[in-house]
Amino acid sequence: MAAIVAVVSQKGGAGKTSLARAIATAFAAAGWQTEIADMDIDQGTATAWQQRRLRAGTEPTITVRQFGNPEQAISKAGSCDMLIFDGAPKASKATAVMAKAADLVIIPTGLALDDLEPAVALANALVDRDGVPVARIVFALNQTGTSALEIEEARSYLNKTRFDVLDGEIPKKPAFSRAQDAGLSLIETPFKGPREQAAQVIRAAVARFESLTA
Ligand SMILES: Nc1ncnc2c1ncn2[C@@H]1O[C@H](COP(=O)(O)OP(=O)(O)O)[C@@H](O)[C@H]1O
Ligand SMILES: [Mg+2]
Repeated sequence: MAAIVAVVSQKGGAGKTSLARAIATAFAAAGWQTEIADMDIDQGTATAWQQRRLRAGTEPTITVRQFGNPEQAISKAGSCDMLIFDGAPKASKATAVMAKAADLVIIPTGLALDDLEPAVALANALVDRDGVPVARIVFALNQTGTSALEIEEARSYLNKTRFDVLDGEIPKKPAFSRAQDAGLSLIETPFKGPREQAAQVIRAAVARFESLTA
């Protein structure tokens, strides 16, 4: 059976698709047969990105398929080693199904309370309502500004919860949006500084996955 990482959030625009693609490229580069289950059937953002990637001939190749429900994705995942759920825009019943099936659940969030509060509410609901183990859920800071104070305050807000925050943060930068426009992932941007920042977060996610599945 494939390992499963679910990237989910309460809100649209938090960075689910971006993180799902970055994690997928990290596992694929390490030799895992990796598939993204694009649960955003209206927009198919991961699917369109894969088409740009294929057109550019970028390696490693990632399979992306759209699914209307997570059960379908899981039952069809037999041929891959790693299934990455790119969650639908908003949390729904399917979010709980993905989270319960996942070895690791990643909730991306920005720094503002408008982002942090729904992220924490979702994590709490996944544990208290759906029985997902606390250790399987982590936050990832994405689309951050440049204020070190704001980053520190967001981290300290999240540190007061039961959940861990992945090391590092991914700033909002054209280096990332333009890379994704070209079919690359956050960790494949040609700009070294941003690439290393994204890589720190993705390495932390991979390390968490490894510790949970060891
Ligand atoms: N770190 C970043 N820097 C710049 N743009 C980003 C970054 N992360 C995400 N984006 C952009 O923000 C938008 C929302 O991100 P996305 O990953 O699609 O979120 P979601 O899947 O949660 O809706 C997209 O246009 C994406 O390209
Ligand atoms: Mg998306």
